[in-house]
Amino acid sequence: MIPGGRQYVGGDVPVTGRTIRRRSIPPMTDDFTQKVPLGQTGLSVSRLGIGSSFGAPASVIEEAVEQGVNYLYWGSLRRPAFGRAMRNLARRHREEIILSVQSYSRIPGLIGPSVEVALRRAGLDYFDILLLGMRNERPGQAYTDAFERLREQGKVRFLALSTHNRPLLPSLFDEYREGKSAYAVFMLRYNAVHRGAERDAFPFVPADPRPGMIAYTATRWGHLLDPGKMPAGETPPSASDCYRFVLNQPAVDLVLCGPSDRSQMQEALRALERGPLPPDEVERMQRIGDYIYGRHKPKFKEAGDAKDVEAGVSAS
Ligand SMILES: NC(=O)c1ccc[n+]([C@@H]2O[C@H](COP(=O)([O-])OP(=O)(O)OC[C@H]3O[C@@H](n4cnc5c(N)ncnc54)[C@H](OP(=O)(O)O)[C@@H]3O)[C@@H](O)[C@H]2O)c1
Repeated sequence: MIPGGRQYVGGDVPVTGRTIRRRSIPPMTDDFTQKVPLGQTGLSVSRLGIGSSFGAPASVIEEAVEQGVNYLYWGSLRRPAFGRAMRNLARRHREEIILSVQSYSRIPGLIGPSVEVALRRAGLDYFDILLLGMRNERPGQAYTDAFERLREQGKVRFLALSTHNRPLLPSLFDEYREGKSAYAVFMLRYNAVHRGAERDAFPFVPADPRPGMIAYTATRWGHLLDPGKMPAGETPPSASDCYRFVLNQPAVDLVLCGPSDRSQMQEALRALERGPLPPDEVERMQRIGDYIYGRHKPKFKEAGDAKDVEAGVSAS
């Protein structure tokens, strides 16, 4: 049983036949305005990162960076305004900002050209992170070879993997622990509705050396903010509380937000000022999360939730 939360049905440890040392991850600082190391990359990241998909104008992104955000993620949609913001910011602060580009390509040979187009469009010399997006299976060697070629050319520095299949992660974490992982950073879904990572991913994150860990979908595509999706008598949490909920989790270095305008960006930034969510608010969000999990289906399936779906605990 996850404290204060639902009884998960899918309780099997996803990696069987191996001895897992579950060393607890030391808590991050309670001051969310402080930057933290992104795994072993040597990069320091703000606890909030900005995704490009929802269309905030360049000025909004640039203002947020002046206010302390330093992680910008050009994906899933590479919006031109976001590219302009990266270009403007890179002129002034290239060393201080961390720029990430995503490739969804299922053809490894297309990753290089895709990164080169992105560099040209954003007027950049390099991206700090190349993210292989939505990998629900272990990518083959040809993907890491494609990354290596780009790295040797100075076009990218680190490789990251994003998945909608959390049970894939523990074996990748094992490789990371053993120094055999091509991936420096892992990205997964975690929010008050989808908390399965507390069971099947976070306990397996190596404490030392620790990889970089990024969470997405903090608002569950806005469902956690929707008065029409609340249990009786509950008002929706604020967006900043959704980000605080995620950052309460010691295994998470950075949470992504997806602002479409200045007010959403500024609301997300409030999460950093306000710091950790108090226990009663965590419990309230878990209650709301359980309700939504059971009734409102996700926009995209997470393979790690399959047993909950089968048992009727989660809407499919
Ligand atoms: N690679 C992957 O596997 C993966 C998976 C998921 C997400 N991502 C990316 O991660 C980035 C972040 O996306 P996310 O879904 O995690 O972001 P998010 O901030 O949790 O959600 C964005 C959604 O929440 C709403 N929202 C955000 N702030 C709000 C506010 N202050 N008030 C009201 N509504 C607000 C927006 O609604 P409106 O649009 O209605 O304004 C938008 O639909 C994006 O670039 C996304 O594409 C990547």
